[in-house]
Amino acid sequence: MSREHPSSTAAHRAEAVAARVEKRWAYISVGLILLLIAVMIYSGLHSAAQPPSRVETIDPATLHLSGEFTENNLGTTLQPDGSAVVRVVAQIYSFTPQCILVPAQTPLTFRATSSDVVHGFLVYDTNINTMVEPGFVSTFRYQFDKPGDHLMPCHEFCGTGHEGMWARVKVIEKSEYMKLAAAGRGNSCVQR
Ligand code: CUA
Repeated sequence: MSREHPSSTAAHRAEAVAARVEKRWAYISVGLILLLIAVMIYSGLHSAAQPPSRVETIDPATLHLSGEFTENNLGTTLQPDGSAVVRVVAQIYSFTPQCILVPAQTPLTFRATSSDVVHGFLVYDTNINTMVEPGFVSTFRYQFDKPGDHLMPCHEFCGTGHEGMWARVKVIEKSEYMKLAAAGRGNSCVQR
């Protein structure tokens, strides 16, 4: 005998619609999260992507005093396995070394750090592009296929002299590099 009030039925219907729509969006967002987790797992397993927690720290105040970043240890060092390690220090407003001499067709591991503020490390015509931060060692691998000269500007604003902060990477034939290295000149871009 008591019929439901018409506006109350309308309210119930609207509520049901809202619940349905909310549920649909919840499914979509959970789905997106699952997709992102799947992408992370896939890239971690197949592209060796590393979580950012894999950091190497170093004391920027004692860089030049001891350890691997002392001045005579900078530049390119051949390794017994045929690869080479390239060590670079960035400081306002230059890179040391100013010109990095490297052999072509050789796996290179760059290790860079800063003695003061955050700088950028970018090599033209390559995908080398990273930040160099005081207190941390930035590591990345690269192999140059052919000889050539590449500019290497700092691309992270580091102060008034930022735009004047440049270095060069000079890639030469591997055989030529081996000769220079044997003569103790593996780190000099001049007098080829
Ligand atoms: Cu160093 Cu900008």
